[in-house]
Amino acid sequence: MSSEQTTVPVIIDTDTAQDDCITIIAGMMDPVADVRAITMVAGNVGFDQQVRNAHLTLNALGRLGEVPIHLGCRRPVLVPWVSAENVHGDGSGGLRMDEEGLTTEAEHGVDALLRLTAEEPGEISIVAIGPLTNLAVAAIKDPTFPARVKQLVIMGGSNNGRGNITPAAEFNFYVDPHAARIVFEAGFDITLVPWAPLTLQDAVFKRDQLAEIEALGTPLSEFFGRVCSSTLAFDESVGIPGTTHPDSLSMAVLLHPDLVLRSSRQNVAIECDSELTRGYAAISWGVHGLEPNAEVIEAVDGERFYTYLRDILATPTQPNRPFRVGDQS
Ligand code: RIB
Ligand code: CA
Repeated sequence: MSSEQTTVPVIIDTDTAQDDCITIIAGMMDPVADVRAITMVAGNVGFDQQVRNAHLTLNALGRLGEVPIHLGCRRPVLVPWVSAENVHGDGSGGLRMDEEGLTTEAEHGVDALLRLTAEEPGEISIVAIGPLTNLAVAAIKDPTFPARVKQLVIMGGSNNGRGNITPAAEFNFYVDPHAARIVFEAGFDITLVPWAPLTLQDAVFKRDQLAEIEALGTPLSEFFGRVCSSTLAFDESVGIPGTTHPDSLSMAVLLHPDLVLRSSRQNVAIECDSELTRGYAAISWGVHGLEPNAEVIEAVDGERFYTYLRDILATPTQPNRPFRVGDQS
């Protein structure tokens, strides 16, 4: 990192499974990033398993205990929780380890978001890669919170494209559509990383790339292969030719905005009332006279993004504790 390049203080708000784990790896390994906290939110898999997955990830890095993990909201604000275990298994690829002495913070994730941004107003960015429940509750609890967040990068929605949990909706916005609506109306400086078309065009790692990562033979590359294995099987079963990485792309876009090839200011609104289209993100394409509330990423340099993550995974680390492979029950 050049001497004049400053670091990027960031909080990762996550439903830790599969690509969420890779996002934590990118944040912890990229010298540009200064990860201040991990805040956990109900999403992909069981909440306690998500916490386990975060510890497993820090263990693969050899960084157990170095980042505070705050437990946030264990369910959406209104609708019942919906899991993505059919996609991710338990999100760990069956990895297990001795969990003796592992801790999380007593402070709730919502309170940590509020406190950290109050201590350094305008300095800390947030990468939100799960349902937006924590962000919404924080904005309700303290309406001055959005203005204190330097940049909020959200993974969610599809840009006039197909959903991934329903024809209309992407998972993060489907799980908690009311929270997503609150966040997009709260005044954050939002950068949106959508599922379709962006992720499907620029953030899928195909079999040859996965083989190249596997051949690296490092603890991080093996961890990557494990946690992405069940998602690869699901992705290929639905016609996606590899593993999807929208969460880690969200971190990469925050840290290296020059990865972005095309984006535009748009109005994003979230459907909450129809079961058919719950969680649908209505993203205007600039001809409806709607007030923009987000910078929507439309294209990134996918090859550079791949080599960015590959080079991180190639870096040797010494896990704190030995892994063992259990089942995914
Ligand atoms: O729709 C993609 C999002 O949901 C990602 O955050 C990934 O974690 C998946 O579960
Ligand atoms: Ca996620």
